[in-house]
Amino acid sequence: MPTIVFVSPKGGAGKTTAALILACELARGAPVTVIDADPNHPIKIWAAGAEAPNLTVIADADEENILERIEEASAQTPFVVVDLEGTAAKIVLLAVSQADLVIVPTQGSQLDAEQASRALRVIKQQEKMSGRPVPYTVLLTRTSVAIRTRNMAHIQRGLIAAGVPVLKAELHEREAFRAVFSFRQPLERLNPAEVGNLEKAIVNAEAFASEVVGLLRAGQGAAAAAQPAKVA
Ligand SMILES: Nc1ncnc2c1ncn2[C@@H]1O[C@H](COP(=O)(O)OP(=O)(O)O)[C@@H](O)[C@H]1O
Ligand SMILES: [Mg+2]
Repeated sequence: MPTIVFVSPKGGAGKTTAALILACELARGAPVTVIDADPNHPIKIWAAGAEAPNLTVIADADEENILERIEEASAQTPFVVVDLEGTAAKIVLLAVSQADLVIVPTQGSQLDAEQASRALRVIKQQEKMSGRPVPYTVLLTRTSVAIRTRNMAHIQRGLIAAGVPVLKAELHEREAFRAVFSFRQPLERLNPAEVGNLEKAIVNAEAFASEVVGLLRAGQGAAAAAQPAKVA
């Protein structure tokens, strides 16, 4: 069952937000386990107050047990989402080794893009170690809804020119994505009277999740195609 791992060395890149938004969208259709491997446990804290029946949060993962935790979770729920902190730790390499898709959230600045390339090196390292390709993609986060800066366009072109896959859907900078944490509810349970542009944030979250599901499906297709054909 698909495991989606969020990796970025930069604190504040938007990993935890993107992981939770994705988990909540997926949980609208199927049970999801979130492995909250951030020592501050933001998703565990969120889930303590949230009404999210399809969502289980595991917060005791460390580098000793992460492989088992992912294995157990993927035996129990159709989707597993892993939120990590940083890239240096062994836990990141271990989690990446189990990923069906690694998402590298990146904000639109040159510095952020350089940090993201550290995450990409970790992925390449894991590919070498395991001898299997690790599907990954960059998610541009906290992007402006109003303007597409030249800087942003430049970074996007740079990534694409370097052969780095970038999701078409971005996660825009929106109050609603912060409100999910302050009100401790999934987007769909927030009150539109209290949260500006909630509808637009929901459309954004759905586009992000459906593109991810599409990539996972394509990955499964590729894996199936790679199996030797059965002789009738
Ligand atoms: N798309 C977004 N729109 C608005 N605020 C965001 C968005 N993504 C992240 N943030 C805010 O930025 C800060 C860092 O985000 P977080 O998801 O915790 O990053 P990370 O997990 O990479 O450290 C938090 O205060 C969060 O609310
Ligand atoms: Mg985080």
